[in-house]
Amino acid sequence: MSTPADHSTTLSHEEGRRGAFSSRRVFILAAIGSAVGLGNIWRFPYVAYENGGGAFLLPYLVALLTAGIPFLLLDYAIGHRHRGSAPLSFARLRRGTEGLGWWQVAICFVIAVYYAAVIAWALRYTFFSLDQAWGADPEAFFFGEFLQAGDVQVTADVVPGVLVPLALVWLAVLVIMALGVQRGIGVTSLVLIPVLVLAFSALVVQALLLPGAGAGLDALFTPDWSALTSAPVWAAAFGQILFSLSVGFGIMITYASYVRRREDMIGSGLVVGFSNSGFELLAGIGVFAALGFMAEASGDAVGDVVDGGIGLAFIAFPTIISEAPAGALLGVLFFGSLVVAGITSLISVIEVVISAVRDKLDTSRLTATLAVGVPAAVLSLVLFSTTSGIYVLDVVDHFVNQYGILVVALLSMLVVAWVVRALPVLGEHLNVHGRPRVGTGWRVLTSVVAPAGLAVVLVLAVRDDLAAPYEDYPTWLLLVLGWLLVLALPLVGFLLARLPWRSGTHLDGPPPGSDPAAPLHATSATDPNRPGTGHDEGGRP
Ligand code: ALA
Repeated sequence: MSTPADHSTTLSHEEGRRGAFSSRRVFILAAIGSAVGLGNIWRFPYVAYENGGGAFLLPYLVALLTAGIPFLLLDYAIGHRHRGSAPLSFARLRRGTEGLGWWQVAICFVIAVYYAAVIAWALRYTFFSLDQAWGADPEAFFFGEFLQAGDVQVTADVVPGVLVPLALVWLAVLVIMALGVQRGIGVTSLVLIPVLVLAFSALVVQALLLPGAGAGLDALFTPDWSALTSAPVWAAAFGQILFSLSVGFGIMITYASYVRRREDMIGSGLVVGFSNSGFELLAGIGVFAALGFMAEASGDAVGDVVDGGIGLAFIAFPTIISEAPAGALLGVLFFGSLVVAGITSLISVIEVVISAVRDKLDTSRLTATLAVGVPAAVLSLVLFSTTSGIYVLDVVDHFVNQYGILVVALLSMLVVAWVVRALPVLGEHLNVHGRPRVGTGWRVLTSVVAPAGLAVVLVLAVRDDLAAPYEDYPTWLLLVLGWLLVLALPLVGFLLARLPWRSGTHLDGPPPGSDPAAPLHATSATDPNRPGTGHDEGGRP
């Protein structure tokens, strides 16, 4: 029979094997790094503008408070209590739900493969900004000279200008991941998040000083109150919050599993949620101030120059950079911020996969990093450094975001709340060290309000995609890389769930000692609960 001391030894052994963040501060920075990504910089400003401008802030705030933060806390509670990757945490929650975790892993693998390509473009554009290499026509340059995009067809013609930065991005990511949870992810976040905040703040100040900035802000913030009665506007707010907070697809479960047991996960969640939204607002201000300048320079209305996603970053911003005073600085700050925000999100996405492989197969950190990272990098290079890369990326991104993330997020919430009925015990877990405490309100939000919001988003998205082919792409492309891909992901997930766990894996409920109120006995040098220590798992214990 095992004693509490035995349990604590098992735990420090187990946590030493998996790795851990050295402190709550490092965890919070890593979680902010994951949340603040391309979604904040190029998606939020556009979504806000399109959905009522200033009036959008109300649904956005409602979505943040009723779905975003409650769901973030749910992910934290699952990972922190069950101390495992997404599949292991789900398996410990209820054996039959493990497939949900693998489905999230499969989604993260796909996201990582294309997310890296956008970071690679931004990396290249950071250098293009120095001499405004795009010349007088940034759109022709982006699709022509840079991507060499031809007709919409899948080709094997390599574009060296994308291949090299993409290989560099993957090399950097593999090194970070091989270094481990604390020395890799933790240290990268500790260094890069302050850099990102400084660089982006400097960009916003520079953008606000441009002539026409005020008109841009007027366009963004002038409220269209009629938007508040429109269901798609509310759906857009819910969709934006979930992608932006990185909730519902395994990331926050994985990161929370690396947090010491006696930590305030509720306070951490509030800090992460509000920091992410603060950054999003800052991005809205910076981007619209710059678009206001662009509109004034071209004599167009702000509404005519507004664009989102790839168009904003790689076509509108180069135009602004070419015309603005100290444009090179503006360019380096903007594209550099995209690279930094992208890298800190990408490492969180790929960690979901690495951590699941480690938990399942008991491999060393290095082996799992290579086993996941090398195929992901090769796939990424093969798919996105060719002349058809942009189309593949656009379609996969649209479908995986709309259906992959939304469906798995919705289903996992419903399963946890209504099938496993785990919300009371998860709420209790959060409350042991967390403040302010969560109660009935949180349970209603996570079991009813947030799923209802997500369901509406989903229905509207399906309606739009069935009404007209996405971006008028050929049906075969949408079918193969869109619908079939998103259907294959859960299948892959549920097949992976059938593989056996490494011998000795504790699966029945949370691992012993996971109750944060329980006394801890482990005080060895490898104890992740010792203040100030983090773990970098070197290999098998
Ligand atoms: N949350 C990350 C983003 O906003 C994935 O891009």
